[in-house]
Amino acid sequence: MTTNEQLFARAQAVIPGGVNSPVRAFRAVGGTPRFIARAEGQYIWDAEDKRYIDYIGSWGPMILGHGHPAVLEAVQKALLEGFSFGAPTEREIELAEAIIAQVPSIEQVRLVSSGTEAGMSTLRLARGVTGRSKIVKFEGCYHGHADALLVKAGSGLATFGHPTSAGVPAEVVQHTLVLEYNNVEQLEETFAAQGDEIACVMLEAIAGNMNFVRASVPFVTKLRELCTKHGALLVFDEVMTGFRVALGGAQSVYAKLIPGFEPDMTVFGKVIGGGMPLAAFGGKKDVMKQLAPLGPVYQAGTLSGNPVATACGLATLAEITKPGFYEALTAKTQKMVQGIAEAGREAGVPIVTDSEGGMFGFFFADTLPQNYTQVMATDKERFNRFFHGMLDHGVYLAPAMYEAGFVSAAHTDADLAATKAAALAALRG
Ligand SMILES: Cc1ncc(COP(=O)(O)O)c(C=O)c1O
Repeated sequence: MTTNEQLFARAQAVIPGGVNSPVRAFRAVGGTPRFIARAEGQYIWDAEDKRYIDYIGSWGPMILGHGHPAVLEAVQKALLEGFSFGAPTEREIELAEAIIAQVPSIEQVRLVSSGTEAGMSTLRLARGVTGRSKIVKFEGCYHGHADALLVKAGSGLATFGHPTSAGVPAEVVQHTLVLEYNNVEQLEETFAAQGDEIACVMLEAIAGNMNFVRASVPFVTKLRELCTKHGALLVFDEVMTGFRVALGGAQSVYAKLIPGFEPDMTVFGKVIGGGMPLAAFGGKKDVMKQLAPLGPVYQAGTLSGNPVATACGLATLAEITKPGFYEALTAKTQKMVQGIAEAGREAGVPIVTDSEGGMFGFFFADTLPQNYTQVMATDKERFNRFFHGMLDHGVYLAPAMYEAGFVSAAHTDADLAATKAAALAALRG
């Protein structure tokens, strides 16, 4: 049998770092990445035929679990009809209609192939519509790897950021402001000084790229108020949260807490493609009509709205819009994090947890972090030991403490009980 280690050695010879997306390399936690051979329902099997309960779900898309029969059938049918046409199809309309039906802030969407592409195109559109250059993002939020978004905070308040990647010229990020998450005061000061130059503010409202951190209601309220006042577009990046934390995404969670709340634009990915390369961005018609071929903002894609990907996305959406789906998923996810918290209490290890819909986070800390600095201050060494302990016990968590986790509809009570038992063993081990 080929081992994970052998595959990793072979991969490193021909693929930089042996992986096609950096976090898969286990750099944060150390050790050998598991090479996945197959998946079914809530389980994945590695090259050594070891089975894991999967809490990554391809980093979010697999909300139904792997290989759901209705999704498989739809994809198989679509494959026989053709892989890609480079011409419009009815399924693209159906998927756009399905998204719009669930998200009241959106009147039109454009389909693309990755979250990065959707975020990047949204920025261009926001700049094109407003005629402004500056954009605001928050420390700890990830919006894909477009140049303008690979930025960390500058030294002073609301100074321009610095590139976080080599190959991103300083001039390219000179219009990107990076602010502290949940810092209302900084937001007010920034808008007071430069509000009329800001094209858009991009937010992960339930941030899944610094584990799991919620934007506070006062923060989102202020953000909405300032964007409206200054004519900047408020963009919700729901690549992770869209159709994951609730049918209407994170914005529906905030709309329940802030009457009338809506973002101006939304970025989607992951769940809407059900595991196929598919993402989207959308908003009101007067904004979206600025896109080519109607308007002056150019955006295009050979594989955009791919017929196999739209079939997969549509079949996934058909399942998750069935009555009771999110209630059941939410209950499972809550039970999963309760198990981790209880294991912590039983082992005498402080753990705090949070979840919304099918997305969760946990921290080795006494209180839930509110921003990136606080996330960074939680116990990384303990997380790394816990991660490997869980992996040894057949539970696959994200291999870095900065990542959210995902529960699928396929996880059972037995899986959740096994997860708690593994957690206790990992914490005591
Ligand atoms: C919130 C958020 N936005 C954007 C992206 C980028 O999406 P993709 O990896 O499909 O390019 C991600 C990816 O994890 C994400 O979590």
